[in-house]
Amino acid sequence: MHRTLFDIANRHGPILLLRLGCRRLLLISSASAAEDLFTKNDAVFAYRPKLLPAKVFGCNSTNLAWAPHGGLWRHLRRVSCLEILPFHRLPDQRDSLADEVKQLLRQLYCNNKVEVKLKPMFLDLVFNVMMRMFVGKSVLDSFRQKKKIEDGEEKESISLLEYATRSFKITTGDTDLVYFMPILKLLGLTGLEQKCRQLQRKGDTLMDDLINEVRNKSYDGLCEKEEKVIQFLLERQKEDPKHYTDEIIRGLVLVLVSAGTDTTAAILEWAFALLLNHPEALQKAQNEIDCYVGNDRFLEPSDIDHLPYLRCIVKETMRLYPTAPFLVPHESSKDCKVGGYWVPKGTILMLNVWAIHNDPNTWKEPTKFNPERFEDVVNERDGFNLMPFGYGRRSCPGKHMATRVITFALGSLIHCFNWERVCNEMVDLTEQTGLALFKDKPLTGVCHPRSMMDNLLSQI
Ligand code: HEM
Repeated sequence: MHRTLFDIANRHGPILLLRLGCRRLLLISSASAAEDLFTKNDAVFAYRPKLLPAKVFGCNSTNLAWAPHGGLWRHLRRVSCLEILPFHRLPDQRDSLADEVKQLLRQLYCNNKVEVKLKPMFLDLVFNVMMRMFVGKSVLDSFRQKKKIEDGEEKESISLLEYATRSFKITTGDTDLVYFMPILKLLGLTGLEQKCRQLQRKGDTLMDDLINEVRNKSYDGLCEKEEKVIQFLLERQKEDPKHYTDEIIRGLVLVLVSAGTDTTAAILEWAFALLLNHPEALQKAQNEIDCYVGNDRFLEPSDIDHLPYLRCIVKETMRLYPTAPFLVPHESSKDCKVGGYWVPKGTILMLNVWAIHNDPNTWKEPTKFNPERFEDVVNERDGFNLMPFGYGRRSCPGKHMATRVITFALGSLIHCFNWERVCNEMVDLTEQTGLALFKDKPLTGVCHPRSMMDNLLSQI
């Protein structure tokens, strides 16, 4: 879709008003049009359309990702940006990120198989890092496991990670046709709605159990000193029960896990796919890490600041494969003007970030993987030319966490192992269809521990 709409924009212009069924869509496809929109109308477009995922996964548009711009959204955003996500930067969280990555290195080292499927490994890693932040290690293992949930006739075992990946897949892969053609509602409840509701009930049950277990401290070894997000939010509930209800805590944790897991794992998978096709870049990153870190210790999260080329690789990956190539849909709350054109209230915004990242007027040879192009760019954003996390009020609150996890995990895996393609053929970089930019064929890589790291790896 991002490629097709890029072609349409090339033919008809960077600001287009389209109609899909009974809804109007504003398609923005250039950095200057995005700048005009976000600098003049960010608040007007800070609403979300009431699509099915907003109704079901967004609990009737009351969670952080789907709530309209207003008091509730501001509260949720403040709690997540000021009270939850900074946990990730606390000293003991730095250790837990390093710890989780070490577990992964150990698994790879002990695993006799040299061929590894990378996406499931990255999903586990990101999910574990999140769970460490939310509940602490002691309850992690049991919540990684599937729980049998009875839902009417159906009994299904599902884990929180499965809830996160499935809800993300439905949100980005299935079109809510009823929203665009309400007449279809006359045909009754759609299969999609049923699918969403069943899944959400399971997600809610899993989260309620998790919250209750943290509340009752029914897990052995939940360390008093190691305060974690859910515990912290339950403390806040005692002081301010109206703003920290169980529903709010449940919604916040679910939305952060769903929005953060697949997106982050997908970038890691793309980064590896690109590096396997460009061994010279892989070698350059490995040399940079060897020079700064050496071979008598593992990479630490604080080393990232001293590894500019590694950071360039991450930026270049996000430029080529922004996981949300149209952001999350925005909607205008009143009539406004964008780039001199009149845009009516209730218009859905589709900002083609992928088109902006591939604009030949901005980027030399845009389709080429060239991390060096970022050597002079200091910020993770490059004006409005690079915005994998969006911009303005609704931009991604997890961007710092995501960038840190991706860069650190990538660096550690390159530092400890040599990586190759499974065969001589280049890795197929075909993209899946849908609103998320995922790799179509799961990536498998061949990894061998580096002899210079053998000593350290054998001690984990
Ligand atoms: C590489 C990984 C990630 C990418 C590429 C990404 C990208 C995005 C994008 C493009 C948006 C929509 C911005 C808009 O609508 O204008 C977004 C929203 C959001 N992201 Fe991320 N994200 C990533 C990781 C994360 C992580 C790790 C978390 C949480 C820990 C997270 C939580 C959210 C939430 C809650 C929203 C909705 C914010 C709101 O509507 O106010 N994301 N993300």
